[in-house]
Amino acid sequence: MPKWLSKAVFYQVYPQSFYDSNGDGIGDLQGLIAKLDYIKDLGCNAIWLNPVYDSPFMDAGYDVRDYYKIAPRYGTNEDAKQLFQEVHKRDMKLLMDLVPGHTSDTNGWFAQSKQPVKNELSNRYIWTNSVWEAPPQYRLQCGITDRDGNYLVNYFSSQPALNYGFYEVTHPNWQLPVNHPDCLRTVEAIKDIMRFWLDMGCDGFRVDMADSLVKNDDEKIATAAIWAGIREMMNAEYPDCALVSEWCNPIRAINKGGFHADFYLDHRGNGYSTAFRYYNYETGEQESFFSKEGKGDIMTLVNEFVPNYEATKDNGFISFFTCNHDNPRMSAWYDERELKINFCTIFTLPGVPFLYYGDEIGMRYMSELTSKEGGFSRTGSRTPMQWTNGKNKGFSTADSEKLYLPVDMRENAPTVEDRQKDENSLYNTVKNIIRIRKENPELCGNGDFKVLYAEKNKYPFIFKRGSFIVAVNPSSEAVTVPFEYDINKIVYSIGEAFVKDGNLTINGQSYFLFRP
Ligand code: NOJ
Repeated sequence: MPKWLSKAVFYQVYPQSFYDSNGDGIGDLQGLIAKLDYIKDLGCNAIWLNPVYDSPFMDAGYDVRDYYKIAPRYGTNEDAKQLFQEVHKRDMKLLMDLVPGHTSDTNGWFAQSKQPVKNELSNRYIWTNSVWEAPPQYRLQCGITDRDGNYLVNYFSSQPALNYGFYEVTHPNWQLPVNHPDCLRTVEAIKDIMRFWLDMGCDGFRVDMADSLVKNDDEKIATAAIWAGIREMMNAEYPDCALVSEWCNPIRAINKGGFHADFYLDHRGNGYSTAFRYYNYETGEQESFFSKEGKGDIMTLVNEFVPNYEATKDNGFISFFTCNHDNPRMSAWYDERELKINFCTIFTLPGVPFLYYGDEIGMRYMSELTSKEGGFSRTGSRTPMQWTNGKNKGFSTADSEKLYLPVDMRENAPTVEDRQKDENSLYNTVKNIIRIRKENPELCGNGDFKVLYAEKNKYPFIFKRGSFIVAVNPSSEAVTVPFEYDINKIVYSIGEAFVKDGNLTINGQSYFLFRP
């Protein structure tokens, strides 16, 4: 286990929207280098950088054309090397994004694989044996290359699935078993890509769709086995580097696949979703637990998270996040007070947390935008960072029509410049709670975590982290519950709470971090 990971607080950088250093309207690696001090000052000591590889950007870079080359719009491989060095100078870490499940259909491997004549990459992707063979249960692209066969896609149509084989082979004439030499070669090809960037200085990877490798693998047995092999390689060759999975199944990802951490994802109805993102689009009602409406239920999170935590806490971390590039920003539903309460909770739960760029100032989810580079409804969370009150809010010197996406130019749109000055701002709340987390080993990583109060459809939620207690009441009504501790030292608080006669009363919209 890399030692730094338990103390990490990640900042997710969406490179095209973070900071444009050369005035062409799109963010770049030199722009990120210029803002490393900002990230460090906020308290984040690690970065997850979304894909920066050469790509036609049909899915904003998750469609890789060349795994070994930085996309020219972001800079060069030399810039990447410099970025890693500058990150390390500041005692920080950086994870790149690894996309192992699929490539772009413009990738050189695919160009070779789609050739009609058999060659050494014919099996790098998953092809049926003839264009007339197209079982409907598979997502196949039919009749669009000269090769006599149809190929499987992993996500959008432009993203052919790499071939790691099938766990259950149901069509033996075209499905390879996972131990077929060509499938094993795909694994080796991914390891080589990892080595290339790790040797250059990156500190590991966030792994895209980590559970998607082997097909017909419902229990993910063969997929986890591949990752366990990759973890062995990491242990032997890069013991200080980390792998974080986009999987949302900690037992499979961490215990079986060997990931150092696994993301909680916003899967409708799961623990994270019902806690923070359970807006009912049909009725227009906010049904999340972490909302002032007070209509939520914390038990979905507790019943799901606690057993997963207990089962995986000695092997790796579960990662909560404020948002990412695939979800609406929480500001779509919550006011600043609610955001403060939600983010403080996220930063005091166990695991390794992730902050999405711009969430610290409460940037808006710009739902009115049309799709950019395969973003669709996600586009509104991918807009340029708002740094200053100047041109394009300090993101770029380019003319506004040349920007990657429009900047939120409303007069009251938050900016770093403004939010830093206001000591009661969301920015300063986030900065304070991150500082407190990092100053106290008991609040970092896993350690001792116990739920003290959680009841179906009731508020508050109270949990212990070592010698600290967190009591949080997101609803707007005060609540009183039996409580066997005193509040001796308040470490951080929003709102009001007090203990009297063996009861804790916590006012509406309050968050308390204290020592009993
Ligand atoms: C998950 C990524 O986060 C998302 O942005 C992307 O579109 C898909 N995987 C496909 O790679």
